[in-house]
Amino acid sequence: MVPMCGIVGYVGSGPASGRPLEVVVEGLRRLEYRGYDSAGVAVVTPDGLQMAKKAGKLVNLATQLGTHPLAPGTAAIGHTRWATHGGPTDDNAHPHVSGDLAVIHNGIVENFATLKAELVADGDGFASETDTEVVAHLLDRAYQATGDLTAAMREVVVRLDGTFTLLAVHAAQPRTVVGARHDSPLVVGLGDGENFLGSDVVAFIAHTNQAMELGQDEIVTITPTTVEVTDFAGRPAHARQYTVDWDAKAAEKGGFRSFMDKEIADEPQAVADTLLSRTDVSGALVLDEIRISESVLRAVNKIVVVACGTAAYAGHVAKYAIEHWCRIPVEVELAHEFRYRDPVVDERTLVVAISQSGETMDTLMAVRYAREQGSATLSIVNTHGSTIPRESDAVLYTHAGPEIAVASTKAFLAQITAAYLLGLYLAQLRGTLFPDEVVAKLAELRAMPDKVQTVLDRCDLVQEIARWMADTPTVLFLGRHVGYPVAMEGALKLKELAYIHAEGFAAGELKHGPIALIEPGQPVFVIVPSPRGRHSLHSKVVSNIQEIRARGARTLVIAEDDDEAVVPFADVVFRVPQCPTLLAPLLAVVPLQIFACELAHAKGLDVDQPRNLAKSVTVE
Ligand code: AGP
Repeated sequence: MVPMCGIVGYVGSGPASGRPLEVVVEGLRRLEYRGYDSAGVAVVTPDGLQMAKKAGKLVNLATQLGTHPLAPGTAAIGHTRWATHGGPTDDNAHPHVSGDLAVIHNGIVENFATLKAELVADGDGFASETDTEVVAHLLDRAYQATGDLTAAMREVVVRLDGTFTLLAVHAAQPRTVVGARHDSPLVVGLGDGENFLGSDVVAFIAHTNQAMELGQDEIVTITPTTVEVTDFAGRPAHARQYTVDWDAKAAEKGGFRSFMDKEIADEPQAVADTLLSRTDVSGALVLDEIRISESVLRAVNKIVVVACGTAAYAGHVAKYAIEHWCRIPVEVELAHEFRYRDPVVDERTLVVAISQSGETMDTLMAVRYAREQGSATLSIVNTHGSTIPRESDAVLYTHAGPEIAVASTKAFLAQITAAYLLGLYLAQLRGTLFPDEVVAKLAELRAMPDKVQTVLDRCDLVQEIARWMADTPTVLFLGRHVGYPVAMEGALKLKELAYIHAEGFAAGELKHGPIALIEPGQPVFVIVPSPRGRHSLHSKVVSNIQEIRARGARTLVIAEDDDEAVVPFADVVFRVPQCPTLLAPLLAVVPLQIFACELAHAKGLDVDQPRNLAKSVTVE
């Protein structure tokens, strides 16, 4: 699991010095590749707690520390934030302070609103919109009752729902840092007369390669010479010590060959995090970030999705589900075509912009055009504080974490997930689905991360085939229904990563021309619908496989586990777990991503930075 934020903690022996701050800032710098919205540090000095935090990149914090240096200290914690609750502002940056205590957090506290309401009712005031500041207040209260930071942490963590890695320091314990983790990683760095904490080894790899990995629901207390690990009940826990065999550069990718490999591996978490904290206790959808009035949403008679590239293919997938659930027509438009075709949009059109970066100029221009026509605009974006959400009426963030590789992978799955949440929300609001149907479909969505992991666990065959096909000149991709945009996305991945000409087709289109391309040995990927799906699309696609196989194509078929009908006509079958028809793209695309990534590696290409491409196309 790749954390969304960077976390560093340090405690050292000897007199107060600049080392704690230096170690923490350097650790944050090593985490810089993740991209982030803000950064901050807290230092325990002989004169109490000192803190600095700044929105924007780490350089902004470093500049502030240059002009307003912090006093020498004995312990420090630092944080780079990938915003999930509250925009990227100075106030929302971590650390968050209460009294003489500072805390930093990676993850999402799902029940923070309830906890915050209790604290406000009890007279607490808040300086930020974050879930983390609630934890700071709870820890401070617990510290005042126990006089011990570890005991305070133990008291608080059992009240938190969601995912978290927490680090805390207190002015009264100048040589102690306390950490806790639940569903979010935390590792200990073991030094000589000093110890470290980090969201991964990158945070301290420059100082020690001796590490200790913490298990689920554990609390760690570090001093310059001791490391104490317990469970949340305070019982001693065994933490495995190991030697980190990566160098600092490799450590940034968590040991993966490339960011793309890491981001594909992160896809189950990206889907799970995008679903987090968006349902209430009854299981109904609560998308409070959709700040478009219910009356406007009820009056919507058309949805237009505007996006580019992979984001557009996510929109194409979502079209099938939203039309099926909401009975609203959905058009999917390439953003750069949309505003030049004099589209028919008005105040009853909901324009949905999908964008990982939130900065794609074509998509931004489409949003501006839609607003000029009086349409409501909602953006599905991964990067908090980016331009497109700021210029939209509402935003539904994906929580895929920073996507560093230029070719989009985990964001694609998160975009589909978020678009499905929007579709279910509209269906719930307009009554085109019964509440129990919405709850059932959300449960199906929550089952998808494990199914994606199952596909990832089967990647060896895909990688072997990719290496074998490294010199292939062209590859075709066929899909039908929701498999059609998956075919398009698979072709795009191969084009942008391996520089191979590839084309995706609607399988039903084959006999209307493309079948002329089939000659002996031509590799064709075919995404096969579930045999349990509607309209017996399955048998039609199996017929397509027969037609191209009869003409000598090499058929690489993606099919469900129990689908034996494809076997006689497939040269290779990549198996995916059974799932509802509309959710199948979340699984079928994964072998295609892995294929393109592995083939690019086999060709010795730069997988993370393909030629001619940029991560965000901020020009028209
Ligand atoms: C995806 O692999 C491509 N790099 C590209 O098509 C990308 O999806 C497109 O430029 C849209 O970017 P956005 O999602 O940041 O708006």
